[in-house]
Amino acid sequence: MSSLLEVRGVGKQYGSVIALRDVSTVVNAGEVTCVLGDNGAGKSTLIKILAGLHQHDTGEFLVEGEPVRLSSPREALDRGIATVYQDLAVVPLMSVWRNFFLGSEPTKGFGPFRMLDRRAGRDTTKRALAEMGIDLRDVEQPVGTLSGGERQCVAIARAVHFGAKVLILDEPTAALGVKQAGVVLKYVAQARDRGLGVVLITHNPHHAYPVGNRFLLLKRGRSLGSFDKKGISLEELTRQMAGGAELEALQHELRGAAS
Ligand SMILES: Nc1ncnc2c1ncn2[C@@H]1O[C@H](COP(=O)(O)OP(=O)(O)O)[C@@H](O)[C@H]1O
Ligand SMILES: [Mg+2]
Repeated sequence: MSSLLEVRGVGKQYGSVIALRDVSTVVNAGEVTCVLGDNGAGKSTLIKILAGLHQHDTGEFLVEGEPVRLSSPREALDRGIATVYQDLAVVPLMSVWRNFFLGSEPTKGFGPFRMLDRRAGRDTTKRALAEMGIDLRDVEQPVGTLSGGERQCVAIARAVHFGAKVLILDEPTAALGVKQAGVVLKYVAQARDRGLGVVLITHNPHHAYPVGNRFLLLKRGRSLGSFDKKGISLEELTRQMAGGAELEALQHELRGAAS
């Protein structure tokens, strides 16, 4: 069976800036592929290619074994690839359930009598959230009143509900405290256990390691490799992320400055 997504030697250039070079990895159903790297590593560039926002210049991008070039986010979505961006496309003053449906609200009646089916909308949202183990007291409350972690959870439940095969999350835990990050990671694991292929972007190896099956390490647009979990330990992942020898040199320097 082919992977849900696969990139083979993918590269992307913006003018003279090489944002990504020769990157390869896979995303399988029921697995989490983590993309790790510091600022400017090329993480967002890679997910923009997967999400249909940008196109790769070199290499191959395959969706369920078929080489593709996605021309829009709509096309990605039609192929079951849902992306939750860091800033989340939510309308803060709109209720949780309206945000849940955004653009695909249930209606009742016909023609000129067609109207929003509020009850169905509320009930469906409540049920979908409950299925993921998310308990929101009131789905009428404005989404702006939710915490950052809760918003990520609603976005994950939304993708699952609308039948995504692949869920891409751009730094979902970056702005969160330890506890909220843990909650979001729990829903990442749930989406995985429901059979979705998840792409988790993060620069925190401690967030990636517990839920990840595969770790793609990027550094200044280059791949340091795509490792299966059994091929890399948390310590090694952390060391690679920290820049290994570079960090040790810095620590040495800082110690010197402090004495
Ligand atoms: N639209 C763009 N135009 C020009 N350069 C870009 C553009 N997007 C990203 N870059 C450059 O590509 C590199 C990788 O960026 P990005 O993928 O955003 O990294 P990350 O998400 O890991 O921080 C950076 O050097 C960045 O400045
Ligand atoms: Mg980024």
